[in-house]
Amino acid sequence: MELKDYLHDRSALVDQALERWLPGEEVLPFSLHQSMRYSIFAGGKRLRPILMIAASEAVGGSAQQVLHAACAMEMIHTYSLIHDDLPAMDDDDFRRGRPTNHKTYGEATAILAGDALLTEAFRLLADAEANRLIEPAKVLKVIELVARYAGSQGMVGGQVVDMESEGKEIDFPTLEYIHTHKTGGLILASTQVGALLGGGDEEQIAALIRFGGAAGLAFQIADDILDIVGDQTELGKDVGSDQARGKITYPGLLGLAEARQRANELCDIAVESLTPLGAAAEPLQVLARYIVDRKS
Ligand code: IPE
Ligand code: IPE
Ligand code: MG
Ligand code: MG
Ligand code: MG
Repeated sequence: MELKDYLHDRSALVDQALERWLPGEEVLPFSLHQSMRYSIFAGGKRLRPILMIAASEAVGGSAQQVLHAACAMEMIHTYSLIHDDLPAMDDDDFRRGRPTNHKTYGEATAILAGDALLTEAFRLLADAEANRLIEPAKVLKVIELVARYAGSQGMVGGQVVDMESEGKEIDFPTLEYIHTHKTGGLILASTQVGALLGGGDEEQIAALIRFGGAAGLAFQIADDILDIVGDQTELGKDVGSDQARGKITYPGLLGLAEARQRANELCDIAVESLTPLGAAAEPLQVLARYIVDRKS
């Protein structure tokens, strides 16, 4: 499998679907829809939707079966980035290769664009047309699961502890809590929802939960490392932001070498967990490596 082609093809599919499901710039209120689209179409990696599609395909499902949920996940992720960059949070100026949403549209519109993306994501998860081939009980399960991983005991919870820990000496379990919640949760939700909607059986779903848990934590460790060693232009966002804000990170607590080793171990755990899925999980294997080896 050629990773570059895989990522390119899947993200094109996701972008087309996002284009279909997001209100256009000509829809009122213009400024709000412009601001939502500004961040969504700024060129993110689309990793969470791609993982969801790959998880569906790994259990014998298709991309089409999960495309609406994949777009919803990208909307939630993008909302989390817009809010994460606000002056009240990480106060960053660059994201996805352009000025952050609040730098372009102002704080009030950026906050509301995030709110609207989050709300729109749940509208889409419940959309009758998109769910027409899925049993209602499964639709409800997906909505509940995504809400749990995105909410106060998921991503938002992780973001709160991340902020409360700024400038403090925190222990390793707190750091792990922050990373598995602020970032790991949406990645785990992506593989779990992919397995569910793709029609996976219990063993397959369990394998993809294990995969998502390990890959999700590895992803944030790699993000911490890139904040130190990454290239700003390649990353499309500010580097050195963690140190400037006194964030506790994996390389900050363990050193770069041990953080890298931990990310690699998690990658191995993720890949091992794919064993019951056989050859259909090959793209996920490659994606796990990409998560820790990426430069952006
Ligand atoms: C950045 O996520 C924020 C984190 C959760 C670490 P990504 O690195 O996936 O950002 P995009 O979507 O490619 O912009
Ligand atoms: C952000 O973590 C996680 C979420 C947006 C939920 P970071 O603050 O490390 O993400 P970046 O580095 O700004 O992308
Ligand atoms: Mg942050
Ligand atoms: Mg940040
Ligand atoms: Mg970061």
